Amino acid sequence: MTTPPDVTPATFAPATFTPVPLNLTPDTMTVAISGVTGHIGGTVLRRLANIGEHAHIIGLVRDAARAPQREGVEIRVADYADAVACEKALAGVDVFFMVSASEAEDRVTQHRTVIAAAAKAGVQHIVYTSFVGAGPDATFMLARDHGLTEDAIRSSGMAFTILRDNFYLDVLPLFADENGVIRGPAGEGRVAAVARADVADVAIAVLRKPELQAGRTLELTGGEALTFAEVASRASVILEKSMTFVNETVEQAQVSRAHYNAPGWQMDAWVSTYTAIAAGELEVVNGTILMLTGHPPRTLEDVL
Ligand SMILES: NC(=O)c1ccc[n+]([C@@H]2O[C@H](COP(=O)([O-])OP(=O)(O)OC[C@H]3O[C@@H](n4cnc5c(N)ncnc54)[C@H](OP(=O)(O)O)[C@@H]3O)[C@@H](O)[C@H]2O)c1
Repeated sequence: MTTPPDVTPATFAPATFTPVPLNLTPDTMTVAISGVTGHIGGTVLRRLANIGEHAHIIGLVRDAARAPQREGVEIRVADYADAVACEKALAGVDVFFMVSASEAEDRVTQHRTVIAAAAKAGVQHIVYTSFVGAGPDATFMLARDHGLTEDAIRSSGMAFTILRDNFYLDVLPLFADENGVIRGPAGEGRVAAVARADVADVAIAVLRKPELQAGRTLELTGGEALTFAEVASRASVILEKSMTFVNETVEQAQVSRAHYNAPGWQMDAWVSTYTAIAAGELEVVNGTILMLTGHPPRTLEDVL
């Protein structure tokens, strides 16, 4: 594994905390993974359990009834909003892979709660799924949440590795309506979307040797930047159904989504997915996937 370029600008490092590389090796390490009923957390849990080199693997779920059953994996229950449950679930954990929560108006509060609980429980290193360009100036509204979450992690006192994911490649074709039309104000903007499987591969690499990536903020991108018209045309071929992209103005995007009766913050999040791409904020392609995993990023054809 080679060490990738670090995209952390110097200004991100809080004056009070310099992450110290920890000597954590899997054979003595307890690792906890959240979101294990979902795509990324579930893949990471399954693959780490198969590798079998960690001393203790814990999967965190919100609903025990939906917990994946794996030999050698302990399941604990914790919702990020529940500070007491989170602290209890993270007791004895050295490294915590924190999958960002589902979209919610109070998601930052939930994230701050679980991060504080992790620090209180004695977690040494936290690995978080953030978003490319996370911060207050991001056009994509949810990337602002990720920026605030990163701030909480950086000031928590724990060592950290931030994985700033681009949009998930697997998800882009799902933006299409029942007629195969993806619509939104993305124009000719390009998105270097990354496969969820590649994000999981990077997380696994980090969780196997966390000390190598302590203090790093890594942007995870696909191997190419596509316009939505290209996504639609390539997905049409693979899925053998007609898919097209229709550009909209911001106002048209709000009207075409009005029937969902979504709250304002959610409408802003949805529409800003497209305006962020139009603004070129998601178009940078880098080599982090190759450097961390040893394989090139998966393509749209691979994930579909
Ligand atoms: N970059 C992108 O394009 C993109 C797109 C979609 C999502 N995301 C973010 O990336 C994350 C991981 O993606 P994914 O595809 O693996 O998502 P996913 O399949 O929807 O899984 C999300 C997981 O997070 C758990 N979770 C959600 N809210 C939680 C909370 N408040 N406390 C504890 N656990 C919670 C869910 O548990 P339950 O089963 O109990 O709901 C589920 O296991 C998402 O949660 C989202 O934040 C990014």
